[in-house]
Amino acid sequence: MAEILYSETLAQRLRGKVVVMTGGAQGIGAATVAQLHALGAHVFFGDWDVTHGAKLEDDLRAKANPQGGSAHFRQLDVRDYSSQLALFDAAYRAHGQIDVAISCAAVKEPSGYFEPADLDLESVRKEPSAINDAMAINLTSVLHFTRLALAHMKSSPAPAPPFTRSITLISSIAGITEAPGLFAYGAAKHGVIGLMRALRPWAPVRYGVRVNAICPWATDTQLLSGVKGRWAAEKMPLNTPDDVARQIMQSAADATLNGTAVFVTGGQGFDTEEGVDRCRPKWMGEENAAEFDKGQKILGLGGDWTSEEK
Ligand SMILES: NC(=O)c1ccc[n+]([C@@H]2O[C@H](COP(=O)([O-])OP(=O)(O)OC[C@H]3O[C@@H](n4cnc5c(N)ncnc54)[C@H](O)[C@@H]3O)[C@@H](O)[C@H]2O)c1
Repeated sequence: MAEILYSETLAQRLRGKVVVMTGGAQGIGAATVAQLHALGAHVFFGDWDVTHGAKLEDDLRAKANPQGGSAHFRQLDVRDYSSQLALFDAAYRAHGQIDVAISCAAVKEPSGYFEPADLDLESVRKEPSAINDAMAINLTSVLHFTRLALAHMKSSPAPAPPFTRSITLISSIAGITEAPGLFAYGAAKHGVIGLMRALRPWAPVRYGVRVNAICPWATDTQLLSGVKGRWAAEKMPLNTPDDVARQIMQSAADATLNGTAVFVTGGQGFDTEEGVDRCRPKWMGEENAAEFDKGQKILGLGGDWTSEEK
């Protein structure tokens, strides 16, 4: 397994960098905002939770920051394209560049969607709006976030080597395996991995931007509240929000990382994509894997998918 180790030295590269991030008011996002700020980054973070977001901004501004970082909170709902745009615009107006973008906002599974006790020919007639909202937050907003990040990064001056720009998308263990009971959440988080995979050969070439995903397993935040008791009783591995934040920062600081999906468990990070790629001839079959590689070469950067028939 390819372990990804957090490097304090590499993380210093984030000093003075401009970071845009969603879901920064609580949990993993808040830990990431605080660590980036301590390293001297300028962090523009958005969240719909004004109470926690404004408090985090106040707390960080009240701290002495010898590295020169700054923290800027903005209320937003990631479902609203224009409010995500306003967050990017605020950072770009202030610094004329965006170096790192981290999409972290998400909500948990709405209850009852497939529940047999609630599902019959009468109840199925009502359109389930909660699931539409969850998919908009957990998947569609991530697509919009990525587009906004690429547009702003394209208009930013080239960063001084060895730093390279990057986008980090927060997926989940539920984005790379089955997750019982997480139907819409799992579908969305698999979608985030699909987006990362589609971008990884493409965004570095077309935009000079690396793209990685972080896939936490159980992490001690409000999102875990429903299962935390049983998890702890069985002494299962549990990440702190700071553990996951370190993996997010590593993906932003390490110019060699592109296309990883970092499974974070018990504070350690492992790139699962390395194993998936290495084992392809086993799970796809050697002949199919060779043909697949040829097919990928033929498709190149994939520009033909949206053109007229050739
Ligand atoms: N905690 C875990 O065990 C775990 C495991 C796997 C993946 N994750 C992922 O990690 C990320 C962070 O989750 P967390 O555990 O810190 O949970 P959290 O609930 O503490 O943080 C999520 C943040 O997103 C914000 N948010 C939600 N919907 C929003 C919206 N529409 N607009 C703006 N902000 C919104 C929330 O207010 C909150 O601050 C999420 O993407 C989550 O899916 C968490």
